[in-house]
Amino acid sequence: MYADRVLSGMRPTGSLHLGHYHGVLKNWIELQHEYECLFFAADWHALTTHYDSPGDIEGNVWQMVIDWLAAGVDPSKATLFIQSRVIEHAELHLLLSMMTPLGWLERVPTYKDQQEKLTEKDLSTYGFLGYPLLMSADILIYRANRVPVGEDQVPHLEFAREIARRFNHMYGKEPGYEERAAAAVKKLGGKKAKLYEELRTRYRQQGDEAALESGKALLAETQNLSLGDKERLYGYLEGGGKMILTEPQALLTAASKMPGLDGQKMSKSYGNTIALREEPDSVTRKIRTMPTDPARVRRTDPGTPDKCPVWQFHQVYSSAEVKAWVQQGCTSAGIGCIECKQPVIEAVLKELAPIQERARALTEDPDTVKNIIADGCEKARELARETMRDVRESMGLSFG
Ligand code: TRP
Ligand code: SF4
Repeated sequence: MYADRVLSGMRPTGSLHLGHYHGVLKNWIELQHEYECLFFAADWHALTTHYDSPGDIEGNVWQMVIDWLAAGVDPSKATLFIQSRVIEHAELHLLLSMMTPLGWLERVPTYKDQQEKLTEKDLSTYGFLGYPLLMSADILIYRANRVPVGEDQVPHLEFAREIARRFNHMYGKEPGYEERAAAAVKKLGGKKAKLYEELRTRYRQQGDEAALESGKALLAETQNLSLGDKERLYGYLEGGGKMILTEPQALLTAASKMPGLDGQKMSKSYGNTIALREEPDSVTRKIRTMPTDPARVRRTDPGTPDKCPVWQFHQVYSSAEVKAWVQQGCTSAGIGCIECKQPVIEAVLKELAPIQERARALTEDPDTVKNIIADGCEKARELARETMRDVRESMGLSFG
């Protein structure tokens, strides 16, 4: 059908940190070499939770894009754009909303979870309920079949697949579909045609999966049908039609090993981050003051690396040799914590130096960043328009 296409979005939270880098960006950078990739700033999604305090969404988008580029996302390989600059997403969201059962949205687990978690906000809004549908539109409008996301977004991907299926089912019928299918059934010949109809009825009325399988087997061994008729009958059997929207698959991003300074997940809301553009002095200070194994009250007290967030940093940054030195030195009180942190400080600074250099150059040259995004938006729009033509036509809105 269509070639592999990767799409992913990130809500604009301003400048990014090492958690984003190790969790998401390094993955994007790998994918851009293997697939056609589209990456975008999900600014409308930011508004679903921050509608009452939009703050500086625009500034946050630019800072985030600078960090993408500085980290190595390559605009000659991937298409980078801003969701709200490709308004076709909004049209698809609206059209999909017509056929989206409310119950499907209410059952998405993040809906109730987030409402319960973010109690300081009133999230009983239309837009927040529609979060997974807007995300579905983002994906389906590009017929993207691979969507790199973290574990937390998997239910949204499942939802997008169900929407695509329902859409194809409702609107994917070619003109004269029923008649063409009926004619193809006749071509099967008396006995087979009768069996096919029986199996189809059993599957469609009773959900009998075995009947579906038998029906498919029957078609597979049929010799006297054209390819078009065969495909029609496969679709007719399952109740689907032509594929207008592609069902996307989650490309699950492995959970990042990069912890925050306190050993919890690195997140702005926990105040435990190292920003990609953190000043070297500040990086050094933050790591020097990181908590360690509480058992090491005095320098002479031995410790256990497994109880220490610094050890998790070593997992990300250190060679086997350095790690052996930490194990030995910590458990025997042979090294002090400041000493132990030194190689981590050096490794983080070394990782950040080229990123910061590129970020500085991009910050001084905002036109370059704006042009990259303008080009990306234009490319994205072209792809989105193609899908929208098919979508409008299938929903009876082509007005040609
Ligand atoms: N909801 C995603 C997140 O919070 C961001 C997002 C919006 C997205 N639209 C998307 C991710 C489409 C992948 C594909 O991380
Ligand atoms: Fe943590 Fe290293 Fe101190 Fe051990 S020596 S407690 S691993 S910082």
